[in-house]
Amino acid sequence: MNDILQQLETRRVQARSGGGQRRVDAQHAKGKLTARERIELLLDDGSFEEFDMFVVHRCTDFGMEADRPAGDGVITGWGTINGRMVYVFSQDFTVFGGSLSETHSKKICKIMDMAMQNGAPVIGMNDSGGARIQEGVASLAGYAEVFQRNVLASGVVPQISLIMGPCAGGAVYSPAMTDFIFMVKDSSYMFVTGPDVVKTVTNEVVTAEELGGASTHTKKSSVADGAFENDVEALAETRRLFDFLPLSNREKAPVRPFFDDPARVEMSLDTLIPDNPNQPYDMKELITKLADEGDFFEIQAAFAANIVTGFIRIEGQSVGVVANQPMVLAGCLDIDASRKAARFVRFCDAFEIPILTLVDVPGFLPGVTQELGGVIKHGAKLLFAYAEATVPKVTVLTRKTYGGAYVVMSSKHLRGDFNYAWPTAEVAVMGAKGAVEILYRSELGDVEKIAGRVKDYEDRFANPFVAAEKGFIDEVILPHSTRRRVARAFAALRGKKLVNPWKKHDNIPL
Ligand code: HXC
Repeated sequence: MNDILQQLETRRVQARSGGGQRRVDAQHAKGKLTARERIELLLDDGSFEEFDMFVVHRCTDFGMEADRPAGDGVITGWGTINGRMVYVFSQDFTVFGGSLSETHSKKICKIMDMAMQNGAPVIGMNDSGGARIQEGVASLAGYAEVFQRNVLASGVVPQISLIMGPCAGGAVYSPAMTDFIFMVKDSSYMFVTGPDVVKTVTNEVVTAEELGGASTHTKKSSVADGAFENDVEALAETRRLFDFLPLSNREKAPVRPFFDDPARVEMSLDTLIPDNPNQPYDMKELITKLADEGDFFEIQAAFAANIVTGFIRIEGQSVGVVANQPMVLAGCLDIDASRKAARFVRFCDAFEIPILTLVDVPGFLPGVTQELGGVIKHGAKLLFAYAEATVPKVTVLTRKTYGGAYVVMSSKHLRGDFNYAWPTAEVAVMGAKGAVEILYRSELGDVEKIAGRVKDYEDRFANPFVAAEKGFIDEVILPHSTRRRVARAFAALRGKKLVNPWKKHDNIPL
């Protein structure tokens, strides 16, 4: 009996050694953790239960039958993060470069199927040379099986991808279909075709970092939602994000203990809006002052900074925040901001996370680049996302809310539940100067007269009361009491039931 037990232990030790000490050392030398070390840091201590530790590949080409390491380059299983269940896979670069074989894929598919059935998120740690070259089309089929599950799981359980090494070729499409992608600076990259192929086909010379590093994908392409200094930080921040999310679309996000009075008064908010309407202020100050303990997890911080997206908690409950940022492009909506916010709103709606929208928007950004880039269709994405969302929606107008952008930003007309305005809000078709220049074109030579017209327009329209008179604003509130008002609004909406008409699916302007 003891022998048999010992045999199991020996096999386990062998499996845990991955591709051997030399390759583990090489992994560490690159500043990367091993697949198992990553799981250890991601999950609660001792909570990891492994599946398929002894699975080996079935390839017999290229002499592969002589090399069949247990686990086949990916570690899979489940565990907990702060006590809540999660399924994980972690590719082991020390075994065939973490490349994906038929059996490697089957291991990932198994935990994805279980995650969907049991209602728990999937977190994938990607570190792979792509399709296992020796297996040819079998490994392509393996990728396709994973892709199919990514799509079926979308909107059912949250899916998070950590890119912690290479991720190239068609392999990028699995993370691309998950809800959030986080990359590690300097040690990860993602591209469909690498620098060598790019050079051959288009004659462009580019490094892997420039083409698909963390900076590129968080600042330029917006493929990734965040970049972290190293594996440890990426894993710690993923744990932080996880705590904001529900386990599945059948459950609500967890309610965390909070020590921050929901009725907390913030007198400093009464002077947040500068006297000069063209002077910016930092909308993130408002976000952190509304949040429990000032805790804000930002998504896509480095991309389209004219709109801010992320998660906070109010009375311990997760809330998705979408806010115009007057510090960047005066908070205008443009193509990038619309895409970024639309995707965020849809995530929140899919997983029943209420949405708080903070509005200071002078309109859509004018320009040839915007029009030719399809701002009509991209702007429509955000409009569509807000209009279809059935989660509780609370909106606070702080300053400018002009034109189409007013309608888009979770207005009453798009089924906003509580639409508050600060006294400094201006709800109008456009700013006073622009309006007067159109309405009184013939008087433009007369500076004094025009100044009077501007003043008249401002007196009449540069306030929240015209909209409030029509019931488009539910209440004009004092800035210092915003946290209390917003907290009460969300509390009042906890039982909200709103169902869209049946359809196979909608046709959002992609
Ligand atoms: C089998 C692979 C492999 C692969 C790496 N290895 N990639 N084995 N299939 N795809 C093995 C290497 O042979 C080596 O084995 C070990 O992993 C580490 O690789 P190195 O090259 O020594 O590491 P490094 O210098 O860090 O370079 C990493 C790399 C490079 C940039 C990822 O290995 C590379 O270019 N690999 C090929 C990438 C590729 O073309 N993949 C196919 C993409 S197409 P030893 O025994 O020496 O340790 C694709 C299509 C998916 O993925 C389509 C889905 C629809």
